[in-house]
Amino acid sequence: MARGAIRIGVIGCGFYAQNHLHAWQDLASEGAALAAVCDVDTGKAEAAGRAFGVPFYTDAATMLAGDRLDAVDIVTRHNTHRALCELAISRGIATIVQKPFAPTWEDCLAIVEAAEKAGVWLAVHENFRFQTPMRHVRRVIDSGAIGAPSWARIMFRTGFDVYRTQPYFYDEERLAIADVGIHVLDLARFFQGEVERISCETQRRNPKVRAEDTATMLLRHRSGSVSVVECTYEARRDPDPFPETLVEIEGDKGSIVVLPGSRLRVSSNGVTTEENVCSPLRSWTTVRWHVAQEGAFLACRHLLDCLQRGVRADTSGQDNLKTYALVDAAYRAAVEHRAVAPEELNESAGAPRSKARGAQ
Ligand SMILES: NC(=O)c1ccc[n+]([C@@H]2O[C@H](COP(=O)([O-])OP(=O)(O)OC[C@H]3O[C@@H](n4cnc5c(N)ncnc54)[C@H](O)[C@@H]3O)[C@@H](O)[C@H]2O)c1
Repeated sequence: MARGAIRIGVIGCGFYAQNHLHAWQDLASEGAALAAVCDVDTGKAEAAGRAFGVPFYTDAATMLAGDRLDAVDIVTRHNTHRALCELAISRGIATIVQKPFAPTWEDCLAIVEAAEKAGVWLAVHENFRFQTPMRHVRRVIDSGAIGAPSWARIMFRTGFDVYRTQPYFYDEERLAIADVGIHVLDLARFFQGEVERISCETQRRNPKVRAEDTATMLLRHRSGSVSVVECTYEARRDPDPFPETLVEIEGDKGSIVVLPGSRLRVSSNGVTTEENVCSPLRSWTTVRWHVAQEGAFLACRHLLDCLQRGVRADTSGQDNLKTYALVDAAYRAAVEHRAVAPEELNESAGAPRSKARGAQ
């Protein structure tokens, strides 16, 4: 695709889409053209259309047929992702889809295969690895300051009321790992590379939710390094770091610690430095949510740049299969009380889901 304005249609104008809409608007100077919005809820479609000054639709097929779009950005919930991705791909339109990619491994594979067969660019909006503190961590690792990383602890632990903005969480069949663990597992890959095996303990600490709200996972990476990956919506912490991810990484020359408030402490060859890596608020971000909102903006910026250059995104459909495989492997590990290799999914696709409800 030639460099130039990329006409984008956003599908789904609910809670999280507001970040995408603002991001695309802010990226206008870099070549993003928010061209249309769509939501099956007329009120939400109209509100977004009016707020961002673009035509609105209540049917995705009508929007794709009526507006000349280069890309669609699907920000609906996962149960609609496969149908909407396949619709966009069948029209040859570059497709971005929010995490989780789709409800099942088979759905994810089908979307990736459809895109590859049609030669259509496909990416998942996986955004935690784009958050400013996480980019800093990656840069410190790449600088060699801590040597080769061999151990990490990556934590998303909160008691913030996530159910207020996302009430559908109460009824999800798979909750903490599929919703936020997926981001933290992606970070484990981002920092320490691909995973050989994963074990997992899940807990349902809030009796009002149907699925697990807490997971503690242990990953052995192919490099030999180890990650402890934790996520919970039931922590009682003061201060509560929500929505920040906290990180500790050790190498043979030093360590990196991400502390609450976007503080990065680096020890390298016996010398320790600490800096606040928080970036300034954008016009639409707020103090508490800034790290996460800016992560969505930076993910959109990366996706736009890749679309303009006609190159695969870091979080392409293919790449995200590897993160998704860790999610399914974690659920299987919890049910079967053993370490699971993500490759096992290819051998018996789909098996973990049917037992997922037992993983508490
Ligand atoms: N990356 C993150 O940090 C993050 C945070 C929150 C949510 N999310 C993801 O964003 C996605 C949306 O979550 P949400 O909380 O905004 O949900 P939501 O329910 O608030 O919004 C989804 C919207 O999609 C609309 N919709 C459903 N089917 C549609 C269709 N066929 N065509 C057009 N519109 C349709 C709904 O009417 C609704 O307005 C989910 O995949 C969720 O996991 C990501």
